[in-house]
Amino acid sequence: MVSPLSVPPPAALTPVREKFLPFNRASFDESEEQELVATLRSGWLTTGPRTKQFEADFAAYQQTKHAIGLNSCTAGLHLALLALGVGPGDEVITTPHTFAATCNVIVHVGATPVLADIEPDTLNLDPAHVETLITPRTRAIVPVHFAGHPVAMPAFRALRDRHGVALIHDAAHATESLSAGKSIASDGDITCFSFYATKNLATGEGGMLTTNDDAIADRVRMLSLHGMSRDAWKRYTESGYQHYDVAEPGFKYNMFDLQAALGLHQLRKLEGFWARRQFLARRYGAALADLPGIRLMGVRPDVRTAHHLYVIRLDPDIGISRDAFMAGMQQQHIGVGVHFRPVHFLSYYRDRFGWTPEMWPVASLAGEQCVSLPLDPGLTEADQDDVVTAVRRLLAASH
Ligand SMILES: Cc1ncc(COP(=O)(O)O)c(C=O)c1O
Repeated sequence: MVSPLSVPPPAALTPVREKFLPFNRASFDESEEQELVATLRSGWLTTGPRTKQFEADFAAYQQTKHAIGLNSCTAGLHLALLALGVGPGDEVITTPHTFAATCNVIVHVGATPVLADIEPDTLNLDPAHVETLITPRTRAIVPVHFAGHPVAMPAFRALRDRHGVALIHDAAHATESLSAGKSIASDGDITCFSFYATKNLATGEGGMLTTNDDAIADRVRMLSLHGMSRDAWKRYTESGYQHYDVAEPGFKYNMFDLQAALGLHQLRKLEGFWARRQFLARRYGAALADLPGIRLMGVRPDVRTAHHLYVIRLDPDIGISRDAFMAGMQQQHIGVGVHFRPVHFLSYYRDRFGWTPEMWPVASLAGEQCVSLPLDPGLTEADQDDVVTAVRRLLAASH
């Protein structure tokens, strides 16, 4: 079968630049390098003082009581469901417009994923559609704050309170996001963040779960490290070795100090990174707004988006398919991404649940139209001009 990405663009296009512009580059400098070396020299590599410090700093940044360092956002989502006791017979409502991990963890705990459609301007879960899907078996709603734009927080809080279901926020994109001036996590509901290599705060692999609930925090911490009663840092203290107990079989999901060494400094630079993302996002907006056939993402009032991704949508009648557009961008030496192939397009979910595109028309259309352009704090204005030139040339060649 021919991959859609191998479909050639409408005309042979020469590169707009010599060196390929990657879709995303991590932003590290001497501060992370020195901290990594110091961590290695300290002799303590696994979960220890730097992880504890990063957790404390992150909790303060998010205005939450607990922050638990993990090896991924996926681990956080998985432990969130387990900590709430979600399992077979339960339903969990989430969005099709996400990375598969959001849905995979629901399957892992034996619960049934239920998808609601998304809103056309932000591509975030539509609370009105969610409400129609709530049944006595619904235990949790997992909103994804797509590209860093907060979901309609007041509406989701109202659903939580009216129906007695838990909110587990997939905030993989939303570390700096604000709704009415407050972070997604500040409400105290379980919120999971990603520090994957391409994320706004990057530690290569990594994640954090926040909550204001003491019991959930204790359980997540215990499950993140084999179900043990003490982590290694507490076991091997100067006062001597202490035995541990295992109350239930847990997982190996803990963050370790080499990750935290990066995270500590990424967090200190995060607001500066965000300001640069905002500047670049506005600059893209100004350069692309007049292009027919391209739709830009909406920003609702009273929110701050984290500007994790810069997503454009191609109109169906534009004269070029999304995948040919992507091939044309690559041919011009510009890296691009797709966020996301909706969960119901993926064979496991299609086959197991019988999900079809007609069931979620907004998400299905978005899944065919979205292209993410490069956006990271290290992007120069000249880089960005190259991206815009490549988009314009490609569209001009398609008509
Ligand atoms: C919306 C969303 N949720 C969850 C994840 C999983 O994050 P991680 O790679 O940290 O497990 C991602 C990762 O890309 C994501 O985009």
